[in-house]
Amino acid sequence: MDIKALLAKMTLEEKLAQMSQFNANCLVPDSEGGVTGPAKTLELTEEEISATGSTLNFVGAAEMKRVQDTHLKSDRLQIPLIFMQDVIHGYRTIYPIPLAMGATFDTELMRDCAEMAAKESAAAGVQVTFSPMVDLVRDARWGRCMESTGEDVYLNGLMAKAQIEGYQGDFTKKHNIAACVKHFACYGAAESGRDYNLVDMSNHTLREYYLPAFRTSVDAGVEMLMTSFNTLGGVPSSGNKWLVQDILREEWGFDKIVISDYNAFREMKTHGFCKDNYECAERAFAAGTDIEMMSNCYIKFGKQLLEEGKVTMEQIDESVLRILALKDKLGLFDNPYACADTEEEKRLFLSEEHRALCRTAAEKSAVLLKNDGALPFSEDIRRVAVIGPYADIGMIGFWSCMGREEEAVSVLAGIKAALPAAEVRYAAGCDGALLARTDTELLDEALELAKWADAVVLCLGEGRNMSGEGNSRADISLSDAQCELIRGVSRINARSVVTLFSGRPLALGNIIDDCHAVIEMWQPGTEGGSALANLILARCDFEARLPMSFPYHVGQAPIYYNRFRTGRPKKNDTKAGAYISQYLDYPNAPLFPFGYGLSYADFEVAPPKVSSPLMHRGETVTVSAEVKNIGERDGSTLVQLYIRDMVASVVRPVKELRGFARVSLKAGESKTVEFTLDEEALKFYNINEEFVAESGEFSVFVGLSSAVDECVQFTLE
Ligand code: GLC
Repeated sequence: MDIKALLAKMTLEEKLAQMSQFNANCLVPDSEGGVTGPAKTLELTEEEISATGSTLNFVGAAEMKRVQDTHLKSDRLQIPLIFMQDVIHGYRTIYPIPLAMGATFDTELMRDCAEMAAKESAAAGVQVTFSPMVDLVRDARWGRCMESTGEDVYLNGLMAKAQIEGYQGDFTKKHNIAACVKHFACYGAAESGRDYNLVDMSNHTLREYYLPAFRTSVDAGVEMLMTSFNTLGGVPSSGNKWLVQDILREEWGFDKIVISDYNAFREMKTHGFCKDNYECAERAFAAGTDIEMMSNCYIKFGKQLLEEGKVTMEQIDESVLRILALKDKLGLFDNPYACADTEEEKRLFLSEEHRALCRTAAEKSAVLLKNDGALPFSEDIRRVAVIGPYADIGMIGFWSCMGREEEAVSVLAGIKAALPAAEVRYAAGCDGALLARTDTELLDEALELAKWADAVVLCLGEGRNMSGEGNSRADISLSDAQCELIRGVSRINARSVVTLFSGRPLALGNIIDDCHAVIEMWQPGTEGGSALANLILARCDFEARLPMSFPYHVGQAPIYYNRFRTGRPKKNDTKAGAYISQYLDYPNAPLFPFGYGLSYADFEVAPPKVSSPLMHRGETVTVSAEVKNIGERDGSTLVQLYIRDMVASVVRPVKELRGFARVSLKAGESKTVEFTLDEEALKFYNINEEFVAESGEFSVFVGLSSAVDECVQFTLE
């Protein structure tokens, strides 16, 4: 398609409509042929609706075709709509939430899951997914931790790249869809972990921790970027010229589509940044947003802003060309239905192949936090109790697109299927509400069952909508009812495991000692129950490691491994000191640190060695360490490499992840693991905001979590 020639035919009104995105239910007339509810609220005219450029929130291939047909019947220039959707961790077959995928530390698996989601999405008529979400998260009170791959910028960058590759491929396959990285920027740093709250941080922190995964995504060829709801330094991202124009466009060279978040333009009034929709449009044009999602500022005030010289036709044309270019790249001018195909939907949705991949992902994302020997259950176990509010329901999590709980394997169903010869009984045990109080009837029934059973699986934590957008929590501990149930069951039956479903780290300091075994399952998706059954029966081992720190208590939030030493560090977390950086009532360290996770095998890592005490500029050093399986079972573990820049022009974290490798070892076997460090791995934003590696001493750690202490030093000349 000659998109420049097409642009030349477009009126200003058509260009502004092309830069607007409305829900699918705004674009089809109601039964009387009139403008429907949401469109009416937005005061859209039939002309504006007919020229709209893109849509979101529709259901499947049939509706996509109906909406496209309706649109093309009335669009003067026959410019097809582009269909976008929040495919965050699967379309209909749902894999674990992104925070769980972060726990796999497995970019191949991440890529495969994203590609699977793309196949189902393309068949359902989706051309763009509003994913990956790459917001760094350090505060577990924030509900959207579930959507991130965690607290480490290095891991987040790798996972973002893998998702983009999985979704987009090289755009040669029919199932390749465009990815949209979000939310630009630093949405995950909302003050107090409360969603949509303000963000305030130094430029150094922004560049060092909150921007890199976006830069990695831009360099990976992501086709779109979404700006965030929050303010940064008092400026909402939708109107933040410095963020979008100066950094994203000019410094990074991002020349593709920038889309706002949902109604975020008009929220600039609510923030108190703009006085009316006219100013919202003005600020957004100046910042350089190409598509306005679900609000009407461009379409209603673009003409006036142009006439008043507040925006130029060149700017508008640049945005429209970006949108037309993506439509052309996705083949929409050749086939406005793209890959929408109801038969293909039926073939792909919940296929055994897709279920198998989701099962693998759920197995590889479950973190074994504690095991006093209660696990594994033996295969010949005969009486199993499955107890808890999340025992008999598919745990597919927030942002689960077209996924359906009833199509997901619950823990109860998974264990029954895995142990057909066993008697498996269920009890609710307690109510699943956030602040549930103990119901003695439910508790007594559960305790009786625990007495009867050879083994007990408790299914606790959070429901699907206790994390996710708008679902922040001030208290991230388990409810009193859940704690009382755990204490009662654990006292009665030593072969009991607490399985936690959650979209965030939970504060377990008050209950961990009462548990025999604890598994963090996150929100595991369509095959969660079958994955858990395989894990507790040791048909597969636990491989995952925490992508985000688990605090003892919410009062430690935000808490993260790559913290700073301070001038008065608490050297030993077991005893308080005077006039040092500490809490009187809790340790500084988390209960379970970033990178932590157990398995059925057991490993140890010898102190690391470095190939040379001096690294010359432009050269590398090799760091090696011997890893040994000291358990009785064959298994694998994730060996992690961290660095510490001892002295620099700005203070540097006590550790920074710079590599990891999965090592499989037979019982008793040892292997030397090697990592190569180059100058690039030592770079940071220095006092002058230059991205450089400063000369001086570095410590290098090789271990099984970020709590590793053993290290070796080298000097960068
Ligand atoms: C939501 C979310 C964003 C999502 C968009 C469209 O409010 O913030 O992540 O992509 O709206 O659903």
